[in-house]
Amino acid sequence: MQLTKNEQAVLDGERGEGAAKAMEILVAVGKIYGAEKMVPVGSVQVAGVSYKTIGDAGIEFLEGYVKTGAKCSVPSYLNPAGMDLQAWKEMGVPADFAKKQIEIVRLYEKLGVKSTCTCAPYQIGIVPKRGEHLAWSESSAVCYANSVLGARTNRESGMSALAAAICGVTPMFGLHLQEKRKAKVVFEVECELASRYDYAVLGAHAGKIAGERNAAFVRKNAGAKKPTNDMLKLLGAAMAATGAVALYNFKGATPDFEVAEGAERITVERKALDDTVARMNTGKEPELIAIGCPHCSIDEVREIAETVKNRKGKAKLWVCTSREVKKKADAAGYTQAIEAAGGRVVCDTCMVVCPIERMGFGTTGVDSGKAASYLPGFCKQKVVFKRLEDMI
Ligand code: F3S
Repeated sequence: MQLTKNEQAVLDGERGEGAAKAMEILVAVGKIYGAEKMVPVGSVQVAGVSYKTIGDAGIEFLEGYVKTGAKCSVPSYLNPAGMDLQAWKEMGVPADFAKKQIEIVRLYEKLGVKSTCTCAPYQIGIVPKRGEHLAWSESSAVCYANSVLGARTNRESGMSALAAAICGVTPMFGLHLQEKRKAKVVFEVECELASRYDYAVLGAHAGKIAGERNAAFVRKNAGAKKPTNDMLKLLGAAMAATGAVALYNFKGATPDFEVAEGAERITVERKALDDTVARMNTGKEPELIAIGCPHCSIDEVREIAETVKNRKGKAKLWVCTSREVKKKADAAGYTQAIEAAGGRVVCDTCMVVCPIERMGFGTTGVDSGKAASYLPGFCKQKVVFKRLEDMI
């Protein structure tokens, strides 16, 4: 790899042992993937925050960096943690878990990573420009940044993202290169897509077929309504989970639409989506209904507040979002409406990275293809994958 003078100096230890180690990681990744050089990044989003995900080994790793005095050199933001950092007791999170979780966030803060604790930073004003290079690591955020915003990031690991945060650069390969951004599989959608849930189901279906390939979507119905950004968010998140899709184009809705020559073409009919729903529904009565995977926007919190108004369900209801969005929801009265229905607006975390399996839940209801895909393996849950209206 061709390093600049500055990059070489960092590798040689000029900015300390921690920064040298971080650059070593980036160079190693770059060599594996055939990168010729580094590219400066505008921001970094670091996953690997929940104690459930990184455990004691992760704490040790972070402590090692902190001891060297390493610091982020570009704006860097945290993915969700394993609990609401302020209301974990009310959520029922075990105290031993909470202690470790607080320690992890404190270590990241010492390194200069902002504890935004959201997988949807673009909903709290962190909106990269089209063409901007990033090193983001949460898979749904990566998919949204590449597809809906037209920015450029690979699916970084937590470790390589943190290294990029410290060095301010990432190896230039994969989705940083224009020629690697074309769709290799095109889904021609013949059925109606009306709700966020429909897009989540489509994503769950398409991700399984696409695997690691960039995807594209074309609606065959000429009068079809343009999807909202929230719908696109759910589509990408599901594809990133049932497959490893990091970029998709949606005709008429995303800034780019480029299809590679010889791309596979697949027709999507209602039956395929119904089959996906049937396969992913493994539970009956949810004990917990958790919406907000990825984290809810203020529009989604409003819709949920309207849906649950004057109703009270048997299951617990969590609306997962960022602290910033909750502040807006508090001011608009949405939080109060959700609480009046027996629910709670949960910040900093989500149903997947929170230790819900230790908190007495065995069946969880979600309207997200990503959550429906992860909950069985990662949280030992039976899953009800339906629209919120239908679960209530
Ligand atoms: Fe975000 Fe958790 Fe889903 S981190 S994308 S809400 S699994």
